[in-house]
Amino acid sequence: MAVILVTGANKGIGFEVVRQLARAGHRVILAARDAQKGEAAAALLAKDQLAATPVVLDVTDLVSIEKAAHRVKAEFGKLDVLINNAAVLLKEDQSLATGTAEVLHKTMRTNMFGPVAVTRAFLPLMPAGARVVMTSSGGGSMSDPVGGWSPAYCLSKSALNAATRHLAFELRSRNISVNSYCPGWVKTDMGGKSAPRNVEQGSDTAVWLATAEKTGTGKFYRDRQEMPW
Ligand SMILES: NC(=O)c1ccc[n+]([C@@H]2O[C@H](COP(=O)([O-])OP(=O)(O)OC[C@H]3O[C@@H](n4cnc5c(N)ncnc54)[C@H](OP(=O)(O)O)[C@@H]3O)[C@@H](O)[C@H]2O)c1
Repeated sequence: MAVILVTGANKGIGFEVVRQLARAGHRVILAARDAQKGEAAAALLAKDQLAATPVVLDVTDLVSIEKAAHRVKAEFGKLDVLINNAAVLLKEDQSLATGTAEVLHKTMRTNMFGPVAVTRAFLPLMPAGARVVMTSSGGGSMSDPVGGWSPAYCLSKSALNAATRHLAFELRSRNISVNSYCPGWVKTDMGGKSAPRNVEQGSDTAVWLATAEKTGTGKFYRDRQEMPW
């Protein structure tokens, strides 16, 4: 069974990904920036006889990332799958033309620099055949005709998609795959109540990318189907 870490896993899609992977028998690490929230989430799973190890990991804090990597090395000895799921969508994110620089910087720090930094820190623990899954969004697509909403968020996901392609290229020689996926519009704190999908539907492609026999590398998926960048 694989050792799998999910960032931002105390709620929403990340929590559901952990639940499904734990149910499938994997050794799952539930990473959360807040220790209490991570422990509470793991305790909720334990009520259903599902095991997940809570680990503190703030994707914007290099010290926190390094500490988490050390802990995973000490307790698990390796990481087979990294699912970069943590992200923010700020309510102030309304305009790239007139919004504050801080909105753009905070969004990029969490949604793009964060996953890249986490990937870099965990790569030394990842054996040949390991996988990195980036949680992106159709909002980051350069060919999907969406626009006019949360521009910093969309920009951060476009950059994350570009990072996916570069990392996939660089890590091919180590036989480590790197793919992005869009969960669709999902009912979570981020997605809101009007979203048409539930977290089971939203997490399906992440679980598939983490566990399917063959997924390729350097690709962008939604509903297990490859989609254009
Ligand atoms: N929901 C949608 O419709 C939708 C659509 C497309 C893509 N996505 C993507 O799916 C992923 C999960 O979204 P969601 O809908 O489940 O959102 P969510 O319910 O708001 O959960 C976001 C998670 O990220 C964590 N997080 C935020 N900043 C962090 C940081 N600096 N370090 C570590 N964790 C951090 C949050 O922790 P706290 O609880 O501590 O804040 C929370 O656990 C995101 O990448 C999102 O962009 C979602």
